[in-house]
Amino acid sequence: MEQTLLIIKPDATERHLFGRIIQRLEDSRFKILAMKMVNLSPAGAKQFYAVHEARPFFGDLVEFMTSGPIVPILLERENAISALRELVGATDPAKAACGTIRHDIGLDVQRNSVHASDAPETAKNEIAFFFAGE
Ligand code: RTP
Ligand code: MG
Repeated sequence: MEQTLLIIKPDATERHLFGRIIQRLEDSRFKILAMKMVNLSPAGAKQFYAVHEARPFFGDLVEFMTSGPIVPILLERENAISALRELVGATDPAKAACGTIRHDIGLDVQRNSVHASDAPETAKNEIAFFFAGE
């Protein structure tokens, strides 16, 4: 069993899409171990996406991720990290495969509805970021 982190991003919480997203996670046999609704501070968003600090979109990304509530969800499944990336789809919803979450509900390359950890090390750090000590 492996653990990974999904975040429902502000564009999806604003459009009342929690239910649909959580249903799709459960349909794909992910077990939900923990979840909560939080408002990231600018400092928190910068820390979470620090790997993108030098990218031209970093400022917009921080603004977007602090624009409304987000829902981090700790998930468990066999091959959870790669299975979740597959279910989530490509970063740009316009390029995401049919049947992926981003294809179906993402708005554009920034407002793509969900985040998914991309490797064991990042999953570990991202889970700790939201759920350490709980
Ligand atoms: P995530 O980390 O959120 O799961 O997304 P990802 O791996 O598919 O994509 P990544 O390259 O890590 O980018 C992180 C998030 O930054 C925003 N973004 N905006 N304006 C742009 O060109 C642009 N590119 C990326 C998206 O919200 C993306 O998910
Ligand atoms: Mg990423």
